[in-house]
Amino acid sequence: MKAEERKKWWRESRFGMFIHWGLYSQLGRGEWVQYNERIPVREYEKFANEFNPTRFDAEEWVRLAKNAGMKYIVITAKHHDGFSMFNTQVSPFNIVDSTPYGRDVMTELALACEREGLKLCFYYSHVREWHHPHAQSLEVNGPNWCGNYGNFWDYREEWRKNLQTYIDEFDKPQLKELLTQYGPIGIIWFDTPSMIRPDQAQELVDWIREIQPNCLVNSRVSDDEQVDYDYMSLGDCEIPGIPAGVDWETPMTICTWWGYYSQPGNEYRSPEELIHQLVDIVSLGGNYLLNVGPTGEGVIPEEAQERLRIVGKWMSVNGEAIYGTQGSPFVKRPQWGRVTYKEDQLYFHVYDWQEVISLVGLRNQVKGCYLLSDRNCQITYKQYKDHALGYDRMEIELPQITPDPYCTVLVVEIDGEPSVDQTIIQDDSGVIQLSATQASIHKNAGNSTIGLARSGAIKDWFYSDDWLSWDYIATRTGEYDVELTVLSGPNNQKWDYGHEVQIVINGQTLECQVENHTTGSSPNERLSISVGRVRIDKAEHCKTELKAIKINGRNLSGLPLLSIQLVPSK
Ligand code: GLC
Repeated sequence: MKAEERKKWWRESRFGMFIHWGLYSQLGRGEWVQYNERIPVREYEKFANEFNPTRFDAEEWVRLAKNAGMKYIVITAKHHDGFSMFNTQVSPFNIVDSTPYGRDVMTELALACEREGLKLCFYYSHVREWHHPHAQSLEVNGPNWCGNYGNFWDYREEWRKNLQTYIDEFDKPQLKELLTQYGPIGIIWFDTPSMIRPDQAQELVDWIREIQPNCLVNSRVSDDEQVDYDYMSLGDCEIPGIPAGVDWETPMTICTWWGYYSQPGNEYRSPEELIHQLVDIVSLGGNYLLNVGPTGEGVIPEEAQERLRIVGKWMSVNGEAIYGTQGSPFVKRPQWGRVTYKEDQLYFHVYDWQEVISLVGLRNQVKGCYLLSDRNCQITYKQYKDHALGYDRMEIELPQITPDPYCTVLVVEIDGEPSVDQTIIQDDSGVIQLSATQASIHKNAGNSTIGLARSGAIKDWFYSDDWLSWDYIATRTGEYDVELTVLSGPNNQKWDYGHEVQIVINGQTLECQVENHTTGSSPNERLSISVGRVRIDKAEHCKTELKAIKINGRNLSGLPLLSIQLVPSK
């Protein structure tokens, strides 16, 4: 089976449900409770005596997912606690043999998924496991190492652990059960690969493909890019700023936690945030895997259900602009929302409803434009070319309707696959937005690895020989306030500040310091710094250069530039 064929359903689906459900659910303190509270295995095992999810209804869960517009379900077959939520001969520590409930929930889910036409997929925590004495390997990190969030309170002697033993005696037989007991499985969704060797990970992938050649495997099977997985799982809740360049998916959770959490401090995301996350991700060509954490009784919390019903209502009208679509052909995101497309149809997802919206760079001829929610509502548009400056512009007069509270979709029919001129043009608001995603990166330093990070910020800018530039079209004259925006603390690291930069705009030079102005502790904060004022005297092609006079690379994040904005002065 070719990878392309294998992945077809997954690429078209775009939206799936993630479910974290296990013994931990009855404690209501998240799926990490055993680790966080250092609960000994013998104690933790006792929770199985009380695990009795009598309110579990497979059909209800699957219908909830389906009505939300989700096309696949990834459920924790085994999480880090090592408890198997399926019928397994490999260990008695499973839902059938050690709980009063005694039923295999996966059989019921498999049947319900088959009936409703969703793909069933299994999450499987492989290297990180707190129940099995061999779940961690000493091969990689040496005998005295017990980090990596393993079970060091029961199994103290790291040198006794042998990952290969665990793989052979546990992982492989369990994967075989998961792939032979429940019909066709969509994905084996591995988690926590650290410490597995690439050859061991590849062995698992081959093992899976031998049993079910159509089953996909995500990238968390290994930390090594060489292993032949099917698609990339991004970091937990990571929403990138640019397409990842390969097939990718964001695992996201609907509230703060993954597993059921009944304590204070569990915030649910708003329906607007969920719908915008879905659209943002799809407009960058990714899949959205949205997690819910059912209770120990087997109930998906009402707060989650409510939100999924709202998302589902939106999807029932706008699903066409999500399923089987590709990411936006425009590098620049329009100010009013997002774009997806399918063959000769563009979908404009309008977040910010206004009288008129515009788009620059579309070279195709537009043949028609209407509301996705009402095909009879034809929309007036104009397309023209600015001959003096040489760019294409489309202007759409939005109808006077009550827009969708979250996102209203327009269908724009064009004369073939989209063809886009990515030249940067001044926005209607007058702002000139120069993003890192559209910068020319001049890599001059010998061993420089400067480039664009997945977040959309510049990464590895450590040398002042490297610099950036932008060519763009200014359509209005006047004075502009210049601002520089950086991403503080990318990748959860401490971030570097204390840089000095120079910006040259049409021959006018400004200088500024990038200092730490952040007060918050959250990573990936946007920090805007005002730099000074410049004049643009003529509507014309312009150039901006950004050079570093001094860079501080102490914490290895360098100068994480996101953008430069030229904002019309008041
Ligand atoms: C992390 C967590 C885990 C959760 C997963 C979801 O790896 O350890 O609890 O299952 O992310 O992607």
